[in-house]
Amino acid sequence: MKDCLVGKNIKVKITSFGPHGEGKGEAFERKIFIKNALMGEVHDVEIIKTSYDYLIGKSLSLEKESVSSYRVRAEEIACSYYGRCGGCQLMHMTKEGQHHLKEEMVRNSFHEKKLTISLDAIGASPLFHQYRNKVQLPISLSREQKMVIGPFRQNSNDVVDIASCLIHQQIGDDAFKKIKTLLQNIWPEDKVSHLKHLHLRTSEKEKKVLVCLVGRDSYIEVKEILHRLWSALKKENVIAGLFYNHNESDYNAVFSSNFHHVGGQKVIQERVLDKDFSLSCESFFQVNRLQAELIYSELIEDLNLQKSDVVFDAFCGIGTISLLLAEKVSKVYGVEIIEQAINNARENARLNAVQNCEFICGKAEECDYLAEKATVLVVNPPRKGLDKKMVQFIARSHKIKKMVYISCNPATLARDVSMLKKMCEEKKRPFTIKKVKPFDMFPQTAHVETLCSLEF
Ligand SMILES: C[S@@+](CC[C@H](N)C(=O)[O-])C[C@H]1O[C@@H](n2cnc3c(N)ncnc32)[C@H](O)[C@@H]1O
Repeated sequence: MKDCLVGKNIKVKITSFGPHGEGKGEAFERKIFIKNALMGEVHDVEIIKTSYDYLIGKSLSLEKESVSSYRVRAEEIACSYYGRCGGCQLMHMTKEGQHHLKEEMVRNSFHEKKLTISLDAIGASPLFHQYRNKVQLPISLSREQKMVIGPFRQNSNDVVDIASCLIHQQIGDDAFKKIKTLLQNIWPEDKVSHLKHLHLRTSEKEKKVLVCLVGRDSYIEVKEILHRLWSALKKENVIAGLFYNHNESDYNAVFSSNFHHVGGQKVIQERVLDKDFSLSCESFFQVNRLQAELIYSELIEDLNLQKSDVVFDAFCGIGTISLLLAEKVSKVYGVEIIEQAINNARENARLNAVQNCEFICGKAEECDYLAEKATVLVVNPPRKGLDKKMVQFIARSHKIKKMVYISCNPATLARDVSMLKKMCEEKKRPFTIKKVKPFDMFPQTAHVETLCSLEF
C-alpha cells in the first residue's frame, strides 16, 4: 500500500549524512535521506519513498541563506553526466567538503563501536580527477537498438551512455572512445544484448591499456567477431592486448573464471614506488596508483620494520605490499584467494629479484599457522572485512606485535577492530590503536580508504 507521506512537501534541515554521502535530516520521527543536500542546509523537500524507519526525499529548492560553503554551484560541476550517472556521488561538493565528509564517515564508524581514537587529517589524493586506472563499464542495448556503454544510473540497471569520464585516466579515457567506436561498428546488432561489460586496465608505465570484453555468448560463438575486433584494435598503439570473458551468470561479479586470450599481451606492467608489477585483467590493483603509493609509504614508515621481523600479508593480491616490505624483513608470507593473482605475485617476486616472499593461494582465515610465525600482520581485505575466524586467531597469536589494517569500508574496519578488542581483552592481550588515517583514494565518490595501525 502506498504510504500517505509519499508526495508530501516538507522543510528539512540537514544535520548529518547517509552512507552514500547524501544529506540526512529528520521528519515524521524518521530519518530522511536527500540526495545532493549538504550539512547545515535547509531544503524544501518532496517525500518520494518511505520505509518503516526512514524516508527518501527529493530536494525541490534550497534556502539561499543556508547554502553550505562546501557546495559547488550546479553550473560549475565539470561533468555533464553528473546526477544521471551513478558513478560519482560528491561532485556537488568542493574538495574540502569531500574531505570533511570522509573524515566524519571514519570518525563516526569508530564512535558507533565506542572505540576512542584520535583521527589523523585525511590524506588528499594527488589527483582529484583523472585518477582511475580501471575502466569497468556495463554494455547495453538502448530502446533505439543502439549499443550504449557507461555506468549504471544510481539504484538502477539502466546504462548512462557516456562519451568520456572525468575520473578515468586520460590514457584509459582516450582508449575507451576508440574501443567504443570500433565495437559499435564491428559487433553485430543482434549480439549486442549478449555483451555485459567493457573492462580496461591502464598502465602509466607502458602507456597502454589491457582490454577485456565480458559477454554471455561462448567464446566459440563470438571467436570470429573477436578476431575482427582484435585486427582493428592492434593498429592502435595504446592497446596492449584483448581478452574475452565468458560469463552467463546474473550475479554481481563482473568476471567468471572463463578467460580467453584473443591477441596481444596477456599482462600489463605498472610501477609502484621502486617496484614493477605485472597485472592480469582480474587481479586486484588499487585504482588510484599515486594515492596508493602514499599509503604504502606511510605503512612502511609506521611499521618501522626490523630485519628479524616476519610479515604475514593476508589478502596480498598481486603481492604489492609483500614485495614493498620484503627487503626490510627476513620473510614475508602473502596469502590470496585468486589463483591468477598469486601467479602474478610469484612472477612479480621474480621480476623484482625478491627471494624472501612465499605466496600461498588460499583463504586468509584458514592460515592460522601463519599467525604463529609472523611478528607483523598486514590485512587489506575486501569491503566485507575480516572473517570472525581470522579475528579469533589474531587475538590468540603470541607472536604478532604490530598490525596494520588497510580498509575501503570504515564500517567493517571499526566492527573488526571492536571485535578484536573484545577478544584480546578476554585473552589479556591488549592493544593500542596507534593511528587511524583516512585517505581520499576515490575522489568524487563517497568511498574512503583508511589506514589503521595497532600495537600489541
Ligand atoms: C583490497 S584487495 C588488496 C590487495 C593488495 N593488498 C593490494 O594492495 O594490491 C583484497 C584482496 O583480497 C583477496 N581476497 C578476498 N577474499 C579473500 C580471502 N578470504 N582470503 C585471501 N584473500 C582474499 C581479493 O582477491 C583481493 O585480491
